[in-house]
Amino acid sequence: MQLTCPVCKSLLNKQDRNLRCENNHSFDAARQGYWNLLLAHKKRSKDPGDNAEMVQARRQFLDQGYYQPLSDSINRLATEALADTKQANILDMGCGEGYYTSRLFDALPDSIEPSLLGLDISKHAVKAACQRSKEITWLVASGADIPLPEHSLDLQLVLFSRLMPEAFAKPMKPGASLLIAWPGENHLIELRRLIYKEIRESHFDPVQTLSEHFQLQQQETVSYDFSLESSEQISTLLAMTPHSQRLSSEAKAEICQQEKLELTLDVNLGLFTRI
Ligand SMILES: C[S@@+](CC[C@H](N)C(=O)[O-])C[C@H]1O[C@@H](n2cnc3c(N)ncnc32)[C@H](O)[C@@H]1O
Ligand SMILES: [Zn+2]
Repeated sequence: MQLTCPVCKSLLNKQDRNLRCENNHSFDAARQGYWNLLLAHKKRSKDPGDNAEMVQARRQFLDQGYYQPLSDSINRLATEALADTKQANILDMGCGEGYYTSRLFDALPDSIEPSLLGLDISKHAVKAACQRSKEITWLVASGADIPLPEHSLDLQLVLFSRLMPEAFAKPMKPGASLLIAWPGENHLIELRRLIYKEIRESHFDPVQTLSEHFQLQQQETVSYDFSLESSEQISTLLAMTPHSQRLSSEAKAEICQQEKLELTLDVNLGLFTRI
């Protein structure tokens, strides 16, 4: 799949470990193998996206396999969405450290020839993702300005990340699929009860948010219980969730003292079609 220049939007041509556009804007591959297409002046902070500690915690937690059934459901829906596609251009937008991206690559049937891209604004996340697979193209870039030509994607995944409907629609072919994951009302409810006095209902409505560019095809909920059996596992989960940033170190220590925590996974998956 060809990438576009973040400066002038023309196509980038690859030569060995370099990408260059017709206007001579040039980008070298990072040592780990990813492309950094995030322009310094477009960054809102010096080190945007998830920090190294959150990335490390997410990797450690996901590698223990508690979310594997969720990842399997994502792969099933993605494969169904690509049923009639032989050569599939796929983007995992906000891919994080690449757990779901690399499992999707491994799960796709032989009938599909994938060109798979993982994009995240966090260089810590993308560096970690590079260790998962050399067959996936990893990009540091912004989801607000995806460096792909218009109408190039057959499938885009957005898992637990903020929705930017217009920016996401732009690189997708008309009729292409968007697969999103977002937490249900009971997701990790036991942990949230330990953190918050009052659990607020989420009013997140992706169907409404996406309605201008996408139409819902199918929605399902993945829901099951799992249990963490040590304070170390509990602190790893806490460190990868956004909740931990709202806690004092005393409160964190108190939660992490527990030796066991029974938890609910409750995640919604929505498959949309780009109008
Ligand atoms: C909750 S994490 C989810 C990561 C991964 N999809 C997963 O489920 O393991 C959200 C990710 O979005 C990334 N992110 C935040 N803002 C972004 C943006 N504007 N463009 C691209 N990625 C962004 C963060 O760096 C982080 O890795
Ligand atoms: Zn250029």
